[in-house]
Amino acid sequence: MEKKGVVKEESLLQHPVLFLLVLGLGFMVMDPFEMSPVGGHDFRPVKHDIAPYSQVMGRWPKDNESRLGLGNLEFEDEVFGPESLEFDALGRGPYAGLADGRIVRWMGEEVGWETFAIVTTNWSEKVCAQGVDSTTAKQWKNEKKCGRPLGLRFEKESGNLYIADAYYGLLVVGPQGGIATPLATHVEGTPILFANDLDIHNNGSIFFTDTSKRYNRVNHFFILLEGEASGRLLRYDPSTKTTHVVLNGLAFPNGVQLSKDHTFLLYTETTNCRLMKLWLEGAKNGKVEVVANLPGFPDNVRRNERDEYWVAIDCCRTKTQEVLTHNPWIRNIYFRLPFRMSLLARLMGMKMYTVISLFSENGEILEVLEDQKGEVMKLMSEVREVKGKLWIGTVAHNHIATLTYPLQINNNNDNNVTLS
Ligand SMILES: *[C@@H]1O[C@H](CO)[C@@H](O)[C@H](O)[C@H]1NC(C)=O
Ligand SMILES: *[C@@H]1O[C@H](CO)[C@@H](O)[C@H](O)[C@H]1NC(C)=O
Ligand SMILES: *[C@@H]1O[C@H](CO)[C@@H](O)[C@H](O)[C@H]1NC(C)=O
Ligand SMILES: *[C@@H]1O[C@H](CO)[C@@H](O)[C@H](O)[C@H]1NC(C)=O
Repeated sequence: MEKKGVVKEESLLQHPVLFLLVLGLGFMVMDPFEMSPVGGHDFRPVKHDIAPYSQVMGRWPKDNESRLGLGNLEFEDEVFGPESLEFDALGRGPYAGLADGRIVRWMGEEVGWETFAIVTTNWSEKVCAQGVDSTTAKQWKNEKKCGRPLGLRFEKESGNLYIADAYYGLLVVGPQGGIATPLATHVEGTPILFANDLDIHNNGSIFFTDTSKRYNRVNHFFILLEGEASGRLLRYDPSTKTTHVVLNGLAFPNGVQLSKDHTFLLYTETTNCRLMKLWLEGAKNGKVEVVANLPGFPDNVRRNERDEYWVAIDCCRTKTQEVLTHNPWIRNIYFRLPFRMSLLARLMGMKMYTVISLFSENGEILEVLEDQKGEVMKLMSEVREVKGKLWIGTVAHNHIATLTYPLQINNNNDNNVTLS
């Protein structure tokens, strides 16, 4: 306990945060002009349950060759923020949920991309189809109306596509596409504010995350900054058309993935930088375990054919961030400074690049691929491994990244790439 305190103080002294604190005290007097990033919000930072920085980062096997940078960017400026990628039972795809509210699918070179579904009759081309601007702040005011499909999963037998939409909850659309039908918009009398990802149990139940009761997708940054834990894992039961709370009090629950035998499911908790497991059967039924503590902020998790799990992670945690994590009062001051969020984040040492990592169900690290300079891949949200290829989605950019996997030596290159 005591030792912890010492570490904390040392890092505090080493960082510009303290100086900024002094500077900030003057402005702290309530941010009168609402110029800070949290201006106008009821910002209530709390302590949260995150593994110690040194413990996690000390053991993380870095990919110094930045092999994720070997990937290709495809469909540039043809898809806008394709967070989740899915393939249908015929192998067609990818299907992708876009920032303009549409779900589109790739139908091959001749046809190209076509609109497959929308999540609401409120969708209109005029308001919603902002093209490359859909991934910019220009779309924020329209998102609520247009929808933002984040999680996609086909049910194999029926060919129905289930959708977790950040504004319209859990929906389903038939194999021909069209306008999706809402299945769950409320649970226990309160609205589902931020549905994020889903998976389908073989008994028909749909497990899905509701990221926060307080902030919607546009304001997701505040969930991270506050450390608030009002997120939930929900289950929709199609036989009774009812929705149930499975887990409560989660800090930014995000991706969901059932195991192959459906005895457990994995979910990511973004604020706490970890991959979690919920047992659904057996002696541990209902128990929750930490599978892996991660070097950054995880998004979706997807199983491959070998029963391993790819996690897309926005990297990385920093020491300064750890100080802020343990001291909500500092966050309360720091994020009331009248500077742009991007500057405040940079001062915290945040560099933002992508790490994708493959885990066994017990949390052994099987692969780590990084793009340490963020040259090719940034803000990646999901990794789907299909027939020797990784398809990598991103919530914030206008492309899909791909990478042959397992990695192969590029014969056109005189410099042999050494692979481990
Ligand atoms: C990667 O680089 C870091 C820092 O330079 C070093 O400590 C580490 O040993 C390297 N890892 C590998 C696998 O080479
Ligand atoms: C259309 O948008 C309004 C206002 O956001 C919302 O109340 C309504 O439920 C939406 N209608 C449909 C069919 O989604
Ligand atoms: C389906 O399985 C889940 C997970 O074990 C369980 O919670 C749910 O009650 C089951 N649903 C039905 C209809 O049996
Ligand atoms: C690259 O690797 C191949 C196979 O290991 C080897 O035959 C070749 O000489 C290497 N080329 C260079 C330029 O090192």
